[in-house]
Amino acid sequence: MRILVTGGAGFIGSHTLLQVLAQGHEVAVYDNFGNSSRESLRRVREIAGREVLLKEADLLDKAALDEVFEAFQPEAVIHFAGLKAVGESAEIPLAYYSNNVVGTLNLLNVMQERGVRRLVFSSSATVYASDNGLPLVESMRRGATNPYGRTKQQIEEILEDLGASDSSWRIAILRYFNPVGAHESGLIGEDPAGTPNNLLPFVAQVAVGQRPRVRVFGNDYDTVDGTGVRDYIHVVDLAAGHVSALQYLNEHAGVHTWNLGTGRGTSVLEVIDTFARVSGRTIPFEIGARRLGDVATSLADPSKARDDLGWRATRSFEEMCADHWRWQESNPRGYAPEN
Ligand code: NAD
Ligand code: UD1
Repeated sequence: MRILVTGGAGFIGSHTLLQVLAQGHEVAVYDNFGNSSRESLRRVREIAGREVLLKEADLLDKAALDEVFEAFQPEAVIHFAGLKAVGESAEIPLAYYSNNVVGTLNLLNVMQERGVRRLVFSSSATVYASDNGLPLVESMRRGATNPYGRTKQQIEEILEDLGASDSSWRIAILRYFNPVGAHESGLIGEDPAGTPNNLLPFVAQVAVGQRPRVRVFGNDYDTVDGTGVRDYIHVVDLAAGHVSALQYLNEHAGVHTWNLGTGRGTSVLEVIDTFARVSGRTIPFEIGARRLGDVATSLADPSKARDDLGWRATRSFEEMCADHWRWQESNPRGYAPEN
Protein backbone atom coordinates (compact mmCIF):
# COMPACT_ATOMS: atom_id res chain seq x y z
CA MET A 1 0.00 0.00 0.00
CA ARG A 2 0.94 3.65 -0.32
CA ILE A 3 0.68 5.12 3.16
CA LEU A 4 0.80 8.79 4.11
CA VAL A 5 2.22 9.26 7.62
CA THR A 6 1.51 12.65 9.19
CA GLY A 7 3.96 13.48 11.97
CA GLY A 8 6.21 10.66 10.74
CA ALA A 9 9.41 12.44 11.84
CA GLY A 10 8.32 12.43 15.50
CA PHE A 11 8.97 9.94 18.28
CA ILE A 12 6.24 7.37 17.65
CA GLY A 13 5.99 8.13 13.93
CA SER A 14 9.66 7.40 13.23
CA HIS A 15 9.45 4.03 15.00
CA THR A 16 6.27 3.13 13.14
CA LEU A 17 7.82 4.06 9.78
CA LEU A 18 10.42 1.31 10.25
CA GLN A 19 7.77 -1.34 10.72
CA VAL A 20 5.57 -0.10 7.90
CA LEU A 21 8.59 -0.04 5.57
CA ALA A 22 9.55 -3.56 6.71
CA GLN A 23 6.09 -4.71 5.55
CA GLY A 24 6.97 -3.47 2.06
CA HIS A 25 4.63 -0.47 1.99
CA GLU A 26 5.50 2.79 0.20
CA VAL A 27 5.64 5.69 2.64
CA ALA A 28 5.38 9.46 2.41
CA VAL A 29 5.81 11.60 5.53
CA TYR A 30 3.92 14.86 6.04
CA ASP A 31 5.54 16.92 8.78
CA ASN A 32 6.23 20.57 9.59
CA PHE A 33 9.19 19.65 11.86
CA GLY A 34 7.61 21.77 14.60
CA ASN A 35 8.66 19.17 17.17
CA SER A 36 11.09 16.98 15.23
CA SER A 37 14.02 17.07 12.84
CA ARG A 38 15.02 15.83 9.40
CA GLU A 39 17.74 13.82 11.08
CA SER A 40 15.23 11.29 12.42
CA LEU A 41 14.04 10.59 8.88
CA ARG A 42 17.61 10.31 7.63
CA ARG A 43 18.25 7.66 10.28
CA VAL A 44 15.01 5.84 9.48
CA ARG A 45 16.19 5.63 5.85
CA GLU A 46 19.58 4.40 7.04
CA ILE A 47 18.15 1.65 9.25
CA ALA A 48 15.50 0.57 6.75
CA GLY A 49 17.64 0.90 3.63
CA ARG A 50 14.53 2.31 1.96
CA GLU A 51 13.43 5.66 0.61
CA VAL A 52 10.88 7.73 2.53
CA LEU A 53 9.26 10.56 0.62
CA LEU A 54 8.84 13.81 2.51
CA LYS A 55 6.44 16.71 2.23
CA GLU A 56 7.45 19.46 4.65
CA ALA A 57 4.21 21.27 5.34
CA ASP A 58 1.60 22.03 7.98
CA LEU A 59 -1.76 20.33 8.45
CA LEU A 60 -3.31 23.77 8.55
CA ASP A 61 -2.19 24.27 4.93
CA LYS A 62 -5.00 22.40 3.20
CA ALA A 63 -3.66 23.16 -0.29
CA ALA A 64 -0.34 21.48 0.62
CA LEU A 65 -2.23 18.48 1.97
CA ASP A 66 -4.17 18.25 -1.25
CA GLU A 67 -0.93 18.42 -3.25
CA VAL A 68 0.53 15.44 -1.42
CA PHE A 69 -2.63 13.41 -2.06
CA GLU A 70 -2.43 14.35 -5.76
CA ALA A 71 1.26 13.49 -6.05
CA PHE A 72 1.46 10.39 -3.83
CA GLN A 73 -2.08 8.96 -4.16
CA PRO A 74 -2.11 7.36 -0.70
CA GLU A 75 -4.45 4.45 0.03
CA ALA A 76 -4.24 4.86 3.80
CA VAL A 77 -3.18 7.48 6.33
CA ILE A 78 -1.52 7.07 9.72
CA HIS A 79 -2.14 10.33 11.54
CA PHE A 80 0.38 11.13 14.29
CA ALA A 81 0.79 14.88 13.73
CA GLY A 82 -0.36 16.93 16.67
CA LEU A 83 0.76 19.00 19.63
CA LYS A 84 0.98 16.95 22.83
CA ALA A 85 2.14 18.91 25.87
CA VAL A 86 -0.62 18.99 28.49
CA GLY A 87 0.70 22.02 30.42
CA GLU A 88 1.25 24.06 27.25
CA SER A 89 -2.25 23.18 26.05
CA ALA A 90 -3.72 25.02 29.04
CA GLU A 91 -1.59 28.10 28.24
CA ILE A 92 -2.30 28.26 24.51
CA PRO A 93 -5.53 26.29 24.02
CA LEU A 94 -6.38 27.88 20.67
CA ALA A 95 -3.09 26.66 19.19
CA TYR A 96 -3.98 23.15 20.36
CA TYR A 97 -7.54 23.20 19.05
CA SER A 98 -6.35 24.67 15.73
CA ASN A 99 -3.43 22.36 15.24
CA ASN A 100 -5.05 19.15 16.43
CA VAL A 101 -8.76 19.54 15.67
CA VAL A 102 -8.69 21.87 12.64
CA GLY A 103 -5.60 20.08 11.31
CA THR A 104 -7.41 16.74 11.53
CA LEU A 105 -10.53 18.21 9.90
CA ASN A 106 -8.39 19.41 6.99
CA LEU A 107 -6.94 15.94 6.64
CA LEU A 108 -10.36 14.26 6.80
CA ASN A 109 -11.82 16.68 4.26
CA VAL A 110 -9.01 16.01 1.79
CA MET A 111 -9.35 12.26 2.39
CA GLN A 112 -13.10 12.50 1.74
CA GLU A 113 -12.62 14.57 -1.41
CA ARG A 114 -9.96 12.20 -2.70
CA GLY A 115 -11.81 8.99 -1.82
CA VAL A 116 -9.27 7.76 0.75
CA ARG A 117 -11.19 6.05 3.55
CA ARG A 118 -8.57 4.28 5.65
CA LEU A 119 -7.14 5.97 8.75
CA VAL A 120 -5.19 5.04 11.86
CA PHE A 121 -5.38 7.81 14.48
CA SER A 122 -3.14 8.48 17.52
CA SER A 123 -5.37 8.97 20.52
CA SER A 124 -4.42 8.80 24.18
CA ALA A 125 -5.39 7.19 27.46
CA THR A 126 -5.86 10.75 28.64
CA VAL A 127 -9.37 10.73 27.07
CA TYR A 128 -10.68 8.47 29.88
CA ALA A 129 -12.58 10.15 32.71
CA SER A 130 -10.62 9.91 35.95
CA ASP A 131 -13.50 8.31 37.90
CA ASN A 132 -13.56 5.12 35.82
CA GLY A 133 -12.49 1.90 37.54
CA LEU A 134 -9.19 0.21 36.69
CA PRO A 135 -7.97 -1.21 34.42
CA LEU A 136 -9.33 1.05 31.70
CA VAL A 137 -11.57 -0.60 29.11
CA GLU A 138 -12.41 0.98 25.75
CA SER A 139 -16.14 1.15 26.56
CA MET A 140 -15.56 3.32 29.64
CA ARG A 141 -16.59 6.95 29.79
CA ARG A 142 -14.49 9.68 28.21
CA GLY A 143 -13.88 12.86 30.19
CA ALA A 144 -10.59 14.52 29.38
CA THR A 145 -9.58 17.17 31.90
CA ASN A 146 -7.23 19.40 29.91
CA PRO A 147 -7.30 21.08 26.46
CA TYR A 148 -4.85 18.57 24.93
CA GLY A 149 -6.98 15.65 26.08
CA ARG A 150 -10.12 17.37 24.86
CA THR A 151 -8.63 17.74 21.36
CA LYS A 152 -8.16 13.94 21.30
CA GLN A 153 -11.65 13.37 22.66
CA GLN A 154 -13.20 15.72 20.11
CA ILE A 155 -11.32 14.08 17.25
CA GLU A 156 -12.52 10.64 18.43
CA GLU A 157 -16.10 11.98 18.34
CA ILE A 158 -15.61 13.45 14.87
CA LEU A 159 -14.26 10.11 13.62
CA GLU A 160 -17.22 8.25 15.14
CA ASP A 161 -19.68 10.65 13.48
CA LEU A 162 -17.88 10.23 10.19
CA GLY A 163 -17.99 6.44 10.40
CA ALA A 164 -21.69 6.55 11.28
CA SER A 165 -22.42 8.77 8.27
CA ASP A 166 -20.65 6.61 5.69
CA SER A 167 -19.96 2.92 6.17
CA SER A 168 -17.08 2.90 3.70
CA TRP A 169 -14.74 4.53 6.26
CA ARG A 170 -12.25 2.22 7.97
CA ILE A 171 -10.86 3.93 11.05
CA ALA A 172 -8.67 2.70 13.91
CA ILE A 173 -8.50 4.86 17.03
CA LEU A 174 -5.47 3.81 19.08
CA ARG A 175 -5.35 4.96 22.69
CA TYR A 176 -1.72 4.93 23.71
CA PHE A 177 -0.77 4.56 27.35
CA ASN A 178 2.78 5.77 28.21
CA PRO A 179 5.15 5.19 25.27
CA VAL A 180 8.84 4.97 26.22
CA GLY A 181 12.01 3.23 25.05
CA ALA A 182 13.66 3.48 21.66
CA HIS A 183 14.64 1.38 18.67
CA GLU A 184 17.21 -1.26 19.62
CA SER A 185 19.79 0.32 17.26
CA GLY A 186 20.00 3.39 19.53
CA LEU A 187 19.78 5.51 16.37
CA ILE A 188 16.25 6.85 16.85
CA GLY A 189 14.39 7.76 20.02
CA GLU A 190 12.51 10.48 21.83
CA ASP A 191 14.11 13.92 21.56
CA PRO A 192 12.04 16.31 23.65
CA ALA A 193 12.57 20.04 23.13
CA GLY A 194 13.53 21.88 26.32
CA THR A 195 12.74 20.38 29.72
CA PRO A 196 10.98 17.03 29.33
CA ASN A 197 7.44 16.94 30.74
CA ASN A 198 7.34 13.16 30.89
CA LEU A 199 9.06 11.04 33.47
CA LEU A 200 11.23 8.65 31.42
CA PRO A 201 13.01 11.29 29.30
CA PHE A 202 13.61 13.32 32.46
CA VAL A 203 15.05 10.33 34.32
CA ALA A 204 17.26 9.54 31.32
CA GLN A 205 18.63 13.11 31.26
CA VAL A 206 19.43 12.88 34.98
CA ALA A 207 21.16 9.54 34.40
CA VAL A 208 23.33 11.03 31.66
CA GLY A 209 24.25 13.98 33.89
CA GLN A 210 22.35 16.75 32.12
CA ARG A 211 20.05 17.45 35.07
CA PRO A 212 20.84 17.20 38.78
CA ARG A 213 17.85 15.25 40.08
CA VAL A 214 14.36 13.99 39.43
CA ARG A 215 11.51 15.60 41.28
CA VAL A 216 8.92 12.99 42.23
CA PHE A 217 5.47 14.56 41.94
CA GLY A 218 3.94 13.36 45.20
CA ASN A 219 4.37 10.24 47.36
CA ASP A 220 1.01 10.27 49.08
CA TYR A 221 -1.10 8.55 46.41
CA ASP A 222 -2.98 5.36 47.16
CA THR A 223 -0.47 3.15 45.32
CA VAL A 224 2.16 0.56 46.15
CA ASP A 225 4.69 3.15 47.39
CA GLY A 226 2.65 6.35 47.26
CA THR A 227 4.00 7.50 43.88
CA GLY A 228 2.08 7.59 40.59
CA VAL A 229 1.64 4.31 38.71
CA ARG A 230 1.57 4.20 34.89
CA ASP A 231 1.33 1.63 32.13
CA TYR A 232 4.60 2.15 30.24
CA ILE A 233 4.76 0.58 26.80
CA HIS A 234 7.81 0.09 24.58
CA VAL A 235 7.52 2.33 21.52
CA VAL A 236 8.47 -0.61 19.26
CA ASP A 237 5.54 -2.64 20.64
CA LEU A 238 3.34 0.41 20.14
CA ALA A 239 4.54 0.77 16.55
CA ALA A 240 3.65 -2.86 15.88
CA GLY A 241 0.11 -2.08 17.01
CA HIS A 242 -0.24 0.27 14.03
CA VAL A 243 0.72 -2.43 11.57
CA SER A 244 -1.81 -4.79 13.20
CA ALA A 245 -4.51 -2.11 13.04
CA LEU A 246 -3.84 -1.49 9.35
CA GLN A 247 -4.15 -5.21 8.67
CA TYR A 248 -7.44 -5.31 10.59
CA LEU A 249 -8.78 -2.44 8.48
CA ASN A 250 -8.09 -4.47 5.34
CA GLU A 251 -10.84 -6.82 6.46
CA HIS A 252 -13.14 -4.64 8.57
CA ALA A 253 -14.96 -1.41 7.81
CA GLY A 254 -16.20 0.92 10.55
CA VAL A 255 -14.62 2.75 13.47
CA HIS A 256 -12.67 0.66 16.00
CA THR A 257 -11.02 1.75 19.23
CA TRP A 258 -8.20 -0.06 21.00
CA ASN A 259 -6.07 0.53 24.07
CA LEU A 260 -2.38 0.00 23.39
CA GLY A 261 -0.79 -0.74 26.75
CA THR A 262 0.71 -3.64 28.66
CA GLY A 263 -1.75 -3.92 31.54
CA ARG A 264 1.19 -3.70 33.97
CA GLY A 265 1.80 -0.73 36.25
CA THR A 266 5.12 0.78 37.36
CA SER A 267 5.47 3.45 40.05
CA VAL A 268 7.72 6.51 39.79
CA LEU A 269 10.14 5.07 42.37
CA GLU A 270 10.23 1.76 40.50
CA VAL A 271 11.01 3.67 37.28
CA ILE A 272 13.93 5.46 38.95
CA ASP A 273 15.19 2.28 40.53
CA THR A 274 15.04 0.20 37.34
CA PHE A 275 16.59 2.92 35.21
CA ALA A 276 19.46 3.32 37.69
CA ARG A 277 20.10 -0.42 37.68
CA VAL A 278 19.96 -0.78 33.90
CA SER A 279 22.12 2.29 33.21
CA GLY A 280 24.56 1.71 36.06
CA ARG A 281 24.19 5.39 36.99
CA THR A 282 23.06 7.05 40.19
CA ILE A 283 19.77 8.88 39.80
CA PRO A 284 19.27 11.42 42.61
CA PHE A 285 15.67 12.35 43.35
CA GLU A 286 13.64 14.43 45.75
CA ILE A 287 10.00 14.21 46.71
CA GLY A 288 7.96 17.23 45.64
CA ALA A 289 4.32 18.26 45.52
CA ARG A 290 1.71 16.52 43.37
CA ARG A 291 1.40 17.80 39.79
CA LEU A 292 -1.96 19.36 39.03
CA GLY A 293 -4.18 17.06 36.98
CA ASP A 294 -2.31 13.84 37.75
CA VAL A 295 -4.12 10.64 38.70
CA ALA A 296 -2.76 8.01 41.08
CA THR A 297 -2.88 5.14 38.61
CA SER A 298 -3.43 4.71 34.87
CA LEU A 299 -3.58 1.17 33.57
CA ALA A 300 -4.84 -0.39 30.34
CA ASP A 301 -6.92 -3.45 29.85
CA PRO A 302 -5.20 -4.50 26.60
CA SER A 303 -7.40 -7.56 25.96
CA LYS A 304 -9.50 -6.02 23.15
CA ALA A 305 -6.39 -5.37 21.04
CA ARG A 306 -5.19 -8.89 21.81
CA ASP A 307 -8.54 -10.47 20.84
CA ASP A 308 -9.24 -8.38 17.72
CA LEU A 309 -5.73 -7.72 16.41
CA GLY A 310 -3.73 -10.58 17.81
CA TRP A 311 -1.40 -7.86 19.11
CA ARG A 312 0.23 -7.73 22.50
CA ALA A 313 3.15 -5.86 24.00
CA THR A 314 6.07 -8.24 24.53
CA ARG A 315 8.88 -6.05 25.87
CA SER A 316 9.54 -5.77 29.62
CA PHE A 317 10.05 -2.56 31.56
CA GLU A 318 13.77 -3.42 31.84
CA GLU A 319 13.98 -3.55 28.04
CA MET A 320 12.23 -0.18 27.80
CA CYS A 321 14.85 1.32 30.13
CA ALA A 322 17.77 -0.43 28.43
CA ASP A 323 16.70 0.76 24.96
CA HIS A 324 15.91 4.26 26.19
CA TRP A 325 19.33 4.37 27.82
CA ARG A 326 21.18 3.18 24.70
CA TRP A 327 19.57 6.01 22.72
CA GLN A 328 20.20 8.59 25.46
CA GLU A 329 23.82 7.59 26.06
CA SER A 330 24.82 7.56 22.41
CA ASN A 331 22.82 10.73 21.60
CA PRO A 332 23.06 12.86 24.76
CA ARG A 333 21.79 15.88 22.85
CA GLY A 334 19.23 13.96 20.80
CA TYR A 335 19.29 14.72 17.08
CA ALA A 336 21.13 18.03 17.57
CA PRO A 337 23.92 18.33 14.95
CA GLU A 338 26.62 18.94 17.60
CA ASN A 339 26.16 15.41 19.00
P1 NAD B 1 6.02 14.09 18.44
O1 NAD B 1 5.86 15.53 18.80
O2 NAD B 1 7.37 13.49 18.56
O3 NAD B 1 5.51 13.86 16.95
C1 NAD B 1 4.47 14.61 16.37
C2 NAD B 1 4.94 15.05 14.98
O4 NAD B 1 3.91 15.80 14.35
C3 NAD B 1 6.19 15.93 15.01
O5 NAD B 1 7.11 15.45 14.06
C4 NAD B 1 5.65 17.30 14.66
O6 NAD B 1 6.63 18.09 13.99
C5 NAD B 1 4.47 16.95 13.76
N1 NAD B 1 3.41 17.96 13.72
C6 NAD B 1 2.75 18.50 14.77
N2 NAD B 1 1.83 19.37 14.33
C7 NAD B 1 1.90 19.37 12.98
C8 NAD B 1 1.19 20.06 11.95
N3 NAD B 1 0.25 20.97 12.23
N4 NAD B 1 1.52 19.83 10.67
C9 NAD B 1 2.49 18.93 10.36
N5 NAD B 1 3.19 18.24 11.29
C10 NAD B 1 2.90 18.47 12.57
O7 NAD B 1 4.95 13.27 19.29
P2 NAD B 1 4.79 11.70 19.49
O8 NAD B 1 5.14 11.40 20.89
O9 NAD B 1 5.45 10.96 18.39
O10 NAD B 1 3.21 11.59 19.38
C11 NAD B 1 2.56 11.26 18.16
C12 NAD B 1 1.06 11.30 18.37
O11 NAD B 1 0.70 10.42 19.43
C13 NAD B 1 0.53 12.68 18.78
O12 NAD B 1 -0.71 12.89 18.14
C14 NAD B 1 0.35 12.56 20.27
O13 NAD B 1 -0.65 13.42 20.76
C15 NAD B 1 -0.07 11.11 20.40
N6 NAD B 1 0.22 10.54 21.74
C16 NAD B 1 1.52 10.59 22.22
C17 NAD B 1 1.79 10.10 23.47
C18 NAD B 1 3.19 10.18 24.04
O14 NAD B 1 3.35 10.02 25.25
N7 NAD B 1 4.23 10.38 23.25
C19 NAD B 1 0.77 9.52 24.24
C20 NAD B 1 -0.52 9.47 23.72
C21 NAD B 1 -0.77 9.98 22.45
C1 UD1 C 1 1.24 12.67 30.78
C2 UD1 C 1 0.09 13.54 30.38
C3 UD1 C 1 -0.93 12.71 29.62
C4 UD1 C 1 -0.27 12.00 28.44
C5 UD1 C 1 0.87 11.13 28.98
C6 UD1 C 1 1.60 10.36 27.90
C7 UD1 C 1 -0.02 15.23 32.17
C8 UD1 C 1 -0.82 15.76 33.31
N1 UD1 C 1 -0.51 14.13 31.57
O1 UD1 C 1 0.72 11.73 31.65
O2 UD1 C 1 -1.98 13.52 29.16
O3 UD1 C 1 -1.22 11.18 27.76
O4 UD1 C 1 1.79 11.99 29.65
O5 UD1 C 1 2.39 11.21 27.16
O6 UD1 C 1 0.97 15.80 31.77
N2 UD1 C 1 6.42 12.38 37.25
C9 UD1 C 1 7.29 12.77 38.25
N3 UD1 C 1 8.29 13.64 37.94
C10 UD1 C 1 8.45 14.17 36.68
C11 UD1 C 1 7.56 13.76 35.67
C12 UD1 C 1 6.54 12.87 35.99
O7 UD1 C 1 7.18 12.33 39.38
O8 UD1 C 1 9.37 14.98 36.46
C13 UD1 C 1 5.37 11.38 37.55
C14 UD1 C 1 3.96 11.81 37.28
O9 UD1 C 1 3.39 12.43 38.39
C15 UD1 C 1 3.29 10.46 36.94
C16 UD1 C 1 4.41 9.65 36.29
O10 UD1 C 1 5.62 10.27 36.71
O11 UD1 C 1 2.89 9.81 38.11
C17 UD1 C 1 4.37 9.66 34.78
O12 UD1 C 1 4.31 11.01 34.32
P1 UD1 C 1 4.31 11.37 32.75
O13 UD1 C 1 5.45 10.70 32.10
O14 UD1 C 1 4.23 12.85 32.64
O15 UD1 C 1 3.00 10.69 32.20
P2 UD1 C 1 1.46 10.84 32.66
O16 UD1 C 1 1.34 11.50 33.97
O17 UD1 C 1 0.84 9.52 32.51
